[in-house]
Amino acid sequence: MTRFWQAAPSVGHPLTRIEGLDKVTGRARYAGDVAVPGLAYGAVVPATIPRGRVLNLDVEATLAMPGVLAVVHRDNAPRLTDIGEGTLFLFQGDRVAHWGAPVALVVADTPERAREAAERMRVDYFPEPPDTVFRADHPGLYEPEYVNPRNPTVTGKGDVDAALAGAAVVVDAEYRTPAQHNNAMEPHSATAVRSDGRITLHTSTQYAYGVVPTLSKLFGFAPGTLRVLSEHVGGGFGNKGMPPRPDTVLAVMAATLVGRPVRVTLTRPQLWPLTGYRTPTAQRIRLGADQDGRLVALEHRAALQTSRLHEFTEQAAVYSRPMYGAENMRTSHRVVALDVPTPRWMRAPGEAPGSFALESAMDELAEACGVDPVELRLRNEPAVDPTTGQAFSSRRLADCLRVGASRFGWAGRDPRPAVRRDGRWWRGTGVAGAHYPARAAPTTAHATALPDGSFVVRVAASDIGTGARTVLTQLAADALEVPVDQVRVLIGDSGFGPAMGAGGSMGTASWSWPVVTACRELAGRLAAGEPLPPDGLTSTFDSTAAIGARADYARYAFGAHFAEVAVDVTTGEVRVPRLTGVYAVGRVVNPLTARSQSIGGMTMGLSTALLEESSMDGRFGDWVNHNLADYHVATNADVGEIDVTYVDDPDDELNPSGVKGLGEIGIVGVAAAIANAAWHATGVRQRELPITPARAA
Ligand code: MOS
Repeated sequence: MTRFWQAAPSVGHPLTRIEGLDKVTGRARYAGDVAVPGLAYGAVVPATIPRGRVLNLDVEATLAMPGVLAVVHRDNAPRLTDIGEGTLFLFQGDRVAHWGAPVALVVADTPERAREAAERMRVDYFPEPPDTVFRADHPGLYEPEYVNPRNPTVTGKGDVDAALAGAAVVVDAEYRTPAQHNNAMEPHSATAVRSDGRITLHTSTQYAYGVVPTLSKLFGFAPGTLRVLSEHVGGGFGNKGMPPRPDTVLAVMAATLVGRPVRVTLTRPQLWPLTGYRTPTAQRIRLGADQDGRLVALEHRAALQTSRLHEFTEQAAVYSRPMYGAENMRTSHRVVALDVPTPRWMRAPGEAPGSFALESAMDELAEACGVDPVELRLRNEPAVDPTTGQAFSSRRLADCLRVGASRFGWAGRDPRPAVRRDGRWWRGTGVAGAHYPARAAPTTAHATALPDGSFVVRVAASDIGTGARTVLTQLAADALEVPVDQVRVLIGDSGFGPAMGAGGSMGTASWSWPVVTACRELAGRLAAGEPLPPDGLTSTFDSTAAIGARADYARYAFGAHFAEVAVDVTTGEVRVPRLTGVYAVGRVVNPLTARSQSIGGMTMGLSTALLEESSMDGRFGDWVNHNLADYHVATNADVGEIDVTYVDDPDDELNPSGVKGLGEIGIVGVAAAIANAAWHATGVRQRELPITPARAA
């Protein structure tokens, strides 16, 4: 791949990742590899009951094991402040809220000795009968006050029941998605180093700054005590987005107790109960339409699970709120607290499972009305956000559908299912829409001109493998009007000030706002002849007020996904030889890293369509496939041709860089497009993920 180091302007050029060479040569240091003198290692002792109390911990025998320095547990752990975040309120009592919850941390001089002692530690419990397996009609389902992040639980307008009763065509179906786990390559790891009353934390997080206020409140640290460093992050997919995670709390506790630096790296099976996962969902969709497929009623009801530690409700029905227009609409969520780990964010929380339900139901409506599924969506394009009545800042869904149809070769598609037999394969094609909110959060950045003519930009951004550092360098270089090799962007340090994390597809929009503004201001000061002091000239910008002053619009990225599917006539094996994704995501800063993210999102969508399912053993409240051998994630051999395109999506007053974010929209709707194509292939509707061979044919 050509480098465009000298190109100016840089935005729009496929610059390769600035830290790419460091990563592939092993020079890049991740949280768990940072060298720290005198390091001790903590290993988690996980609960082996799903519900009950810890009666006794055999601390004495554990302390006698080789290399063991300390055991942290309910009797000696620092007292924490209850900040309403049960997953972090560790060792404060004897309740066990789920299988795998930490009951102790063994600290030893090597990771192996810590793990050995942790595995051997004897713990006696008083078990209670658990409730662990989610059902659509679970007793105890209730309406939470809000759903993630702070969306209303219920929305409605008109009279859905009356409209459905009078509709020419009705679709009423239930869709199910299983629990899924994020499974980033790099496990969660935290290293706490105390010196002079301060703590430096090396941790793997999507939100370096976010660790600081939460941990400070939890431990009662004074401002300025904590500094979080997170230079390289080996993936996250959402479960490093909620900071901190338990590994970080444990590392700080242990470092406090043993008086030396402590590292806690979770094992792969420990990630499953401790860091988050996507809740299973049961979603009921009712659509009413006229004979031409124009919606008169749209209802989306979602049932979800959470834990007893924390109420997290995935916003699955939120997907239906801005997507297609109807006079009569209702969306709602219900949640039940079970004796299970706490679900959290996983790429496109809400929109990923929600789009599977609505975009599948739209396909069923297309079939029922005899209208082409692309045309059906075009007929239901709303003029304004159908739920809030707000104008869209820009809405290019129709363009995405048309461009996608053309690139994919949709024209002339025979709508009949189960009529394309090609040797051992049934073949079919399917489509789905997609959207994801385009937001930005307050962030501070500093741009410094140095006497040698180079520039340093500092912002506490996180690069989770997406290319964040690279696109920020491009945006900064253009704002400064210099080549990219004159700009160094430093990220992953909470000391740079408040900054949004890499989450909600808000990273680039949030970080670039102050980066571009500070760089433009600095360029102006230099152009005006302001003298350059020996330690450099710095412009700082905090975007809080600018974001608050923005005009009120419904802001979304839109997209369309097309899939070709082949289903083995005999075995039911489902293959996806071709996927097309078309996105309207505002400005594309770097077509190379953008395309890679979109391909990654679509691959993850394919993976959830066909493979991903966390299987809970109800007796233990534990997932039996908590490793990468048994939890299947799509690999190269599962992926066919993936075509990615972006349509122009100018939105001038969105933010200074004009980006909407594209990290999550790539997964949205993909599972529905594949499920719809599977139906087109075989005639069997796929209302439950994953589409295993047993379900496919
Ligand atoms: Mo994304 S699930 O907000 O990291």
